[in-house]
Amino acid sequence: MATGQLFSKTTQALFYNYKQLPIQRMLDFDFLCGRETPSVVGIINPGSEGFQKLFFGQEEIAIPVHSTIEAACAAHPTADVFINFASFRSAAASSMAGLKQPTIRVVAIIAEGVPESDTKQLIGYAKENNKVVIGPATVGGIQAGAFKIGDTAGTIDNIIHCKLYRPGSVGFVSKSGGMSNELYNTIARVTDGIYEGIAIGGDVFPGSSLSDHVLRFNNIPQVKMIVVLGELGGRDEYSLVEALKQGKISKPVVAWVSGTCARLFKSEVQFGHAGAKSGDEMESAQAKNQALREAGAVVPTSYEAFEGAIKETFEKLIEEGKITPVKEVIPSQIPEDLNTAIKSGKARAPTHIITTISDDRGEEPTYAGVPMSSIVEQGLGVGDVISLLWFKRSLPHYCTRFIEICIMSCADHGPRVSGAHNTIVTARAGKDLVSSLVSGLLTIGPRFGGAIDGAARYFKDAHDKGLRPYEFVESMKKKGIRIPGIGHKKYRGDSRDKRVELLQRFARSNFPSVKYVEYAVEVESYTLSKANNLVLNIDGAIGSLFLDLLAGSGMFTKQEIDEIVGIGYLNGLFVLARSIGLIGHTFDQKRLKQPLYLHPWEDVLYTK
Ligand code: ACO
Ligand code: LMR
Repeated sequence: MATGQLFSKTTQALFYNYKQLPIQRMLDFDFLCGRETPSVVGIINPGSEGFQKLFFGQEEIAIPVHSTIEAACAAHPTADVFINFASFRSAAASSMAGLKQPTIRVVAIIAEGVPESDTKQLIGYAKENNKVVIGPATVGGIQAGAFKIGDTAGTIDNIIHCKLYRPGSVGFVSKSGGMSNELYNTIARVTDGIYEGIAIGGDVFPGSSLSDHVLRFNNIPQVKMIVVLGELGGRDEYSLVEALKQGKISKPVVAWVSGTCARLFKSEVQFGHAGAKSGDEMESAQAKNQALREAGAVVPTSYEAFEGAIKETFEKLIEEGKITPVKEVIPSQIPEDLNTAIKSGKARAPTHIITTISDDRGEEPTYAGVPMSSIVEQGLGVGDVISLLWFKRSLPHYCTRFIEICIMSCADHGPRVSGAHNTIVTARAGKDLVSSLVSGLLTIGPRFGGAIDGAARYFKDAHDKGLRPYEFVESMKKKGIRIPGIGHKKYRGDSRDKRVELLQRFARSNFPSVKYVEYAVEVESYTLSKANNLVLNIDGAIGSLFLDLLAGSGMFTKQEIDEIVGIGYLNGLFVLARSIGLIGHTFDQKRLKQPLYLHPWEDVLYTK
């Protein structure tokens, strides 16, 4: 491995397995360092293609998503770092595929638990082909002010605190990712900061070793001193001891191998990392520290003295004129995410919707303040739900029962009415449920099912003005307006609509007052004297009866009644009810599997 720098301020990476947070952290780091372009140029997410939106500073950018490693490498031939966030199950195969791409030079494997035999193959392939593997079981690495892998160094606040947005003079390598964060802090405190930091990962067989990186740092002119944090278990540190003994490292090395406490335990101890277990004496932290010390590294007597040793070494280099401490720079300011800023009280954002009927912020939705579960537990029905969601109050039982009777009686009227006809045609034309349903619903209007509000409006106006029925009918005739709620294709004076009779009967025996429907009946007597089909139809019956419900229940002010009639709530009853029938017609046609609708050619009259 050896040679020098792995990354630069123009390094481009491909990110395997979409993870929003680490990618955004990389892009935030890029922006903080004043990079001109983002370091992540492509995302590989097996099975999906397109773009992922992320931020580069204040600008929202679209990063291409590729479904295969090959496609991503072909599309981004200048990207030479492959950051692998695959799970431990697929990390080895995808890392090997990444290593095999001629454009890829460095592969970082984040997953913990990759089988050791697989890692050995990756190491072998990387060695033969002069490529670098960082990990597995690592957080990655960072070149201060230039490039960062995934979550390395934690939050932006920590990165700023550790001055990682600009290069310092220290090369740092450790096994542990968590401890490397700690050391970034320590090093920033007592030196001019990190030049490059690598966490090689805690596995028994890391893709690259401590000494691999130390030897590399030795070749990087900007690195003036090297800090190493090893840990008990394994023999990786001895290759560093060898390199020191052979005089391959000319820069001062300050090292500490943690895990000296393992001796306090009577039996073998396994720490967090797979590789961190006390084996034989050679693998103990004490032995490794001693060997490093003897080979010429600066090794303190305890971890607590590590910071002091780093400081002393750094100051000595300054004294010797080997380090000119870097000039401080002011990092770019990263805009805060809106949600974070709102949470901390630094920003506010206007909402776009006001709602007054339901609330989904608690444990369960509430309808006009009533929790769903209490609606079910109290044995309430759909009439109560309508009364809560449409009228925002709990209406008495006779009202909600009346609403339910309206829904039941308007649910369907057979296949020959406009709505059912359209739905049937649409379903037979092979369309889906929603298309078939809405094609029927779209016919609801003044001639079909949508005359309830009109009826309520005209009957109320005429009644409240004290117009006699014949005055009302004749005034409408004069204006050329058909009275909504009067007239039917099928029903006649001598063959009434049963639904109308049913609703009237219910209201007469349950409503405190039925003045509006009685007025409508008087209007009907007059229109029937003109033509036998001018009956009070179901729309007219519901319109006038609802006026009685609103006025007689004592639960609505005059103003509220005018608003309900003015907005036009009541056609909603027919829309809701007829949806039941139209859905039924759709299922029926699908079940019957009849051929595509046959156009009734003979029904067309052609004119010139
Ligand atoms: N008010 C006054 N006169 C009427 C009304 C009415 N609502 N409806 C029909 N007429 C008159 C017509 O002007 C016509 O008079 P004319 O012979 O002097 O020209 C005569 O009655 C026959 O009219 P048609 O259009 O043939 O009546 P048809 O039976 O075809 O129409 C319909 C039935 C569409 C319901 C009609 O009565 C109407 O438009 N009513 C008003 C709207 C309405 O209530 N729609 C809801 C119907 S119920 C439901 O859909 C669930
Ligand atoms: C219905 O309920 O569908 C009918 O009353 C409507 C109509 O147009 O006849």
